[in-house]
This record gives sequence, C-alpha cells and structure tokens, in this order.
Amino acid sequence: MLKEIHEQPQSIVDAYRGRLLASKGIIKMGSVDNNISRFLNANRIVIVACGTSWHAGLVAEYLFEDLARIPVEVEYASEFRYRNPIINKDDIVIAISQSGETADTLAAIKLAKSKGAFVFGVCNVVGSSIARETDTGAYTHAGPEIGVASTKAFTTQITVLALIALKLGNLKGELSNSMYNHYIQEMSLIPAKVEEVLKMDTEIEKIAAIYKDAPNCLYLGRGFNFPVALEGALKLKEISYIHAEGYPAAEMKHGPIALIDEHMPVIVIATKKGHYDKVVSNIQEIKARNGKIIAIVTKGDTIVREMADHVIEIPETEEAFTPLLSTIPLQLLSYYIAVMRGCNVDQPRNLAKSVTVE
Ligand code: G6P
Repeated sequence: MLKEIHEQPQSIVDAYRGRLLASKGIIKMGSVDNNISRFLNANRIVIVACGTSWHAGLVAEYLFEDLARIPVEVEYASEFRYRNPIINKDDIVIAISQSGETADTLAAIKLAKSKGAFVFGVCNVVGSSIARETDTGAYTHAGPEIGVASTKAFTTQITVLALIALKLGNLKGELSNSMYNHYIQEMSLIPAKVEEVLKMDTEIEKIAAIYKDAPNCLYLGRGFNFPVALEGALKLKEISYIHAEGYPAAEMKHGPIALIDEHMPVIVIATKKGHYDKVVSNIQEIKARNGKIIAIVTKGDTIVREMADHVIEIPETEEAFTPLLSTIPLQLLSYYIAVMRGCNVDQPRNLAKSVTVE
C-alpha cells in the first residue's frame, strides 16, 4: 500500500498522458470525442460505483456540476440495481471501477443498458468485464493495484473524470478558453504537488503515533473535500479497524458533535477557497468541546494553525483539484496507524480486492 501511495505522482501522469496536452492547451480523449454530441446533449449523468470508486463518483459530481453545469446523480451500484431507476435515453451512465469486476456495478451497467442508456466506463483493469460490458470508456492507467485499500486507483479516477468535466465545460461554453487553459496548466502541476505532500510522511507518522489507539475518528470536509472526508474515514476503517465516520462539516451539528470530547480526534480538511470560513467555525466548535484537531490546510495558512493540534500543509491548487492533494495525507495517516496497530495493511481482514459476488 505504501508503494502504491508513493506511485501516485506517476500514476496521475499515466492517467493523463496523451490526453492532457498542456503545451497545446487541449484535452484529447477518443472515447469522449467520438461521442461528443451525446455528452453535450446529455440531460444528466448518473454515476454508479461501489466503495472508493463511489467516492470518486462523488468528487465527479462536484466536477461535472461546477465545471460543465451538467446535473449528476451518484448511486451505489448495489442500490441502483434493485430499484426501478428512471433512466432516459438522453442520460449518460458512468460506471467507475478499479477492478472492472465488481458484481453490483456490473449488474447496474446491464440494467442501465437494458433501459437504453449510453454507458461509459472508467476502469483500471484493461479488458475487465466492466470494460467489455460498457459502450465505451476511458482507462485510468494506474497500473496494478494490489493493496486491498484503494489509493492510486482513486486519484487516477478523479484525474480522468476531471479531464472529461473540463473538456465538456469548455465545449459547452461554461469554461472560457482562458479558464480551460488555466485548469489544464494547473492539472499538469498536480503530480509535482502530490510529490510535495508525500514528503510529509515523517510528520504524518508522528501524528499517527499519537492517535493510533483512538477508538473512533471523525473526518470532516465540505464541497469537493466532503467525498475526501468519506474516503479518509473508509481508509482508516479498512486497514486499522478503528471506527471512523466521514461527514460534510456543516452536518456535524446534526449529530456527530455529540461525540466530541477530549478523546475524539477530528480530521478536518480546511483548505483555502471554497467554504474555508465555515470550516474554520466548525473547528472552533470542535475546539470548544476539547476535540483533538488534525487539520489539512493550504500551505501558509496561519488561522487554522492557531486552533488545530496538528496541521498538515498541502500546496495551493484550484479548488476542483484539491481532492487529488488532500486525500494523500489521509492515506498516509491510515497507513501508519494501521502499521503501528500491527494490522495487515495490504490484506485487511474480511475484505477482498475485488467483490465479484453479491
Ligand atoms: C472492494 C475493494 C474496495 C473497492 C470496492 C469497489 O470493496 O476492497 O477497495 O473500492 O471493492 O471496487 P472496484 O474495483 O469496483 O473499484
């Protein structure tokens, strides 16, 4: 898992190689280009996935809505397949799967196709069942992911989905050419910024040593970083067996705040832009209840530093791309906590890399 976490600068490059043409300021994706009128005329996008891939789908919801103004619904494939979902011929269904073999996602694709939808796959494993079953799609090119807890698959899924959202946003006239070009240039800087975050692993290891025996952890984030909070909590649960929950920061007051005391570590993604001020007031509320705060902040932040027990800095980027950076320290934190607890990080109990049965 540690190897795969550290591969992310390279796997993100592999995900956009040949697609993100930064010097020309364009994004080229055969499977999107060949079906461009379908994409541009889509009434909505329905995303189906499970587990970490579902979290990538949630990030994509923010990307498609924000950059391309296309309505999106994100569904657990397992729920979608047993409902009687309303699918129209102008809907696009995007199925996201690392393995391309997840039974629920495969069944959701078959159902969507039977209702006449155009189904686009975002898969890692070349030639997998989902890659074959979908109408077309884009591979993430993350390379083999062996650790059961998904890491580089997640960031490459987000990369590919961001490219699609940017391209559609520009073609739909929602993103001006100069903004489009700006995003393209910014995306090309992401691998180096991920590298920078990875350099903080000793610092993160020290934080892990302090909280390794916590029975519970809460993860909070807003906007693009709400799904990152969910993914951070999932990573910790999967490999360290600590109970963890992810929440949109503002929902804290509707329940989780009751759990906060001096024994509760709260990991807050409080990067600049977005809803920074609001997240800062959530941090104050946690502080007032003696919760322990581990904050992921934008480099140079001084306000949160004053309040938090620990801060982990990530480089500044466009808000839409922050999940690619903010998720890295959460992966490392889970990894070190699990190792310190003596857990088998690569093959956690009761979990499978690919769930091919219901
Ligand atoms: C399993 C794995 C997870 C993964 C999920 C979906 O639960 O342990 O890491 O996110 O399946 O898998 P997929 O291959 O469809 O992305």
